[in-house]
Amino acid sequence: MLKKALAGIGAGVLLFGLTACGGGDDGGSDDGLVVGFAQVGAESAWRTANTDSVKAAAEADDRIAELKFVDGQQEQEKQIEAIRNFITQKVDVIVLAPVVETGWTEVLAEAEQAGIPVVLADRGIESADEDLYSTRLGSDFVAEGRSAGEWTAATFADDADGTRILELQGTTGSAPANDRKAGFFEVLDAEGLDYELVDSQSGNFTAEEGKAVMETFIATHGLDGVDLLYAHNDEMGLGAIQAIEEAGFVPGTDVQIIIVDGSAAGFQAGVDGKLNYIVECNPAFGEQLMDVVVQVANGESVEKFTPVEEGVFDATQFEAELPNRQF
Ligand code: AHR
Repeated sequence: MLKKALAGIGAGVLLFGLTACGGGDDGGSDDGLVVGFAQVGAESAWRTANTDSVKAAAEADDRIAELKFVDGQQEQEKQIEAIRNFITQKVDVIVLAPVVETGWTEVLAEAEQAGIPVVLADRGIESADEDLYSTRLGSDFVAEGRSAGEWTAATFADDADGTRILELQGTTGSAPANDRKAGFFEVLDAEGLDYELVDSQSGNFTAEEGKAVMETFIATHGLDGVDLLYAHNDEMGLGAIQAIEEAGFVPGTDVQIIIVDGSAAGFQAGVDGKLNYIVECNPAFGEQLMDVVVQVANGESVEKFTPVEEGVFDATQFEAELPNRQF
């Protein structure tokens, strides 16, 4: 295996060697595929687990010669630059986890012109650009939002005063933020829940921003009479829990809380009674991704979207599930 044979060679020589033998105008190499991966960033435990899963799967897979990894630091410009570099390097397949849904047309058209297939991992892009990528492997974010909505509609069905909700959205313009919101409110409306969205702001999927936005929510609206906080990921929910405690309220009791992801830290907060419902988002699809990458490189037909398996957990399940969490 080429990457094993080159394991002891210095980084500069390694880069030259793999660039020289990978990809190429014929789109292949006898030693395996060269794959460029433009990752979103490192904003959450989910993201770190996803990066680890993809890197480990590529390393263990004899069909992959090299994974060129770029951390986009949650900036679309950095991801676009990474894709252009992958095109220059003539990688065999580009994997993109797009930070936001829009603004990809030009660079993906460049990849298409260069004959390099693009696989979307995790997040999606706007449907107008559907022809510019081969397939997406990741979560059904609308379904995740619907799961959160179903629990909310059932839990607050008998709330005579109406259910007052705060929402911490993910990164503005990202697929999970758009879809988790859409799925959630679609179900509340369909179920006829009497609710008021007190406020809804982005916490950019990070604990720091989630905490800061929650502090602003509390300063602006107070927490008395607020029934539910819907946080689009664990980090923002955990940051918000800190803000709630610092303001003298009891998270999970004074205000019920839903998070999405299901990290060990999230489950631990559930075991501690600080939150009430967890919608799982599964980051461990590295091996599945390598299969898709190879299929696409071989010109095989693949489904346009392959969802990963995910579950939901309420307070009766947190303790038993905690030891199973992988990130
Ligand atoms: O795109 C998946 C989302 O991105 C995860 O829910 C979140 O934690 C991450 O930042």
